[in-house]
Amino acid sequence: MRKKVFTFATALVLITSIVLTGCGGTKTSAPANTASNAPAPAAEKVLKVGSDIAYAPFEFMDTKQQPTGFDIDLMTAIGEDLGYKVKFETAAFDGLIPALGSGKYDMVISAMTITEKRAQSVLFSDKYFEATQFIAVKKGSTIKSEADLKGKKVGVQVATTGQEVVEKLGITPKKYDTTPDALNDLINGGVEAVVADSPVVLWFIKQNPDKAIEAVKGNFEKEYYGIAFKKDDKATADKVNATLKKFMSNGKYNDIYKKWFNVDAPKF
Ligand code: ARG
Repeated sequence: MRKKVFTFATALVLITSIVLTGCGGTKTSAPANTASNAPAPAAEKVLKVGSDIAYAPFEFMDTKQQPTGFDIDLMTAIGEDLGYKVKFETAAFDGLIPALGSGKYDMVISAMTITEKRAQSVLFSDKYFEATQFIAVKKGSTIKSEADLKGKKVGVQVATTGQEVVEKLGITPKKYDTTPDALNDLINGGVEAVVADSPVVLWFIKQNPDKAIEAVKGNFEKEYYGIAFKKDDKATADKVNATLKKFMSNGKYNDIYKKWFNVDAPKF
């Protein structure tokens, strides 16, 4: 008799858990149901994402040393949509593509411009952001255009498109590990200009109103950011692209854009 009751109770618990699951009401993160012998929740699926987390407002550390920014929010939301928790790992920008290639990351998001050269070694998602290069200078500088950079000490972050455009002008720039390093050296007088992505220069100026830095627009080409995958990982790229597309049309992308840039996302 005792055995029968146990079986009945077990069946009841099983049925209950099946019904609950069917309603889509259970989450893997919900506390374990101690009253049942339902199977333990499946281990959380994790995406390992590499980024140079020193590029506000796209990726930077908050006061608690947690990654934050536009890219972080976008990638976290994409991961969530695909059923993954996203784990960010910070690394030097020039090491991201090699590390992706060696399998250290599932993908890279790092305000990375889609370029032909990079596309030889990685697979890019559809573009998710439009930017251009800006020149940061001290207020009152004689540098008013990219032509004025000739003969000046110009700082860039190593391996960025900023470095590329400066070298194209025939200038050998001073290379820094991070863009904040370059911008801080501009403040200190180590260089007369820094060339970096427009939103990053503008953000830095806004965050440092007492440092008398201003932005010069110049006439640089438009650049588009993409999320990078291993060259042969079309399966993941396709999934991420589908979610990106969805976020562009359902307002999610715009919400994230507005959070960081205070205006609606432009069409590009
Ligand atoms: N968009 C530029 C490039 O792709 C700069 C990106 C730098 N990103 C960063 N997280 N430091 O080269």
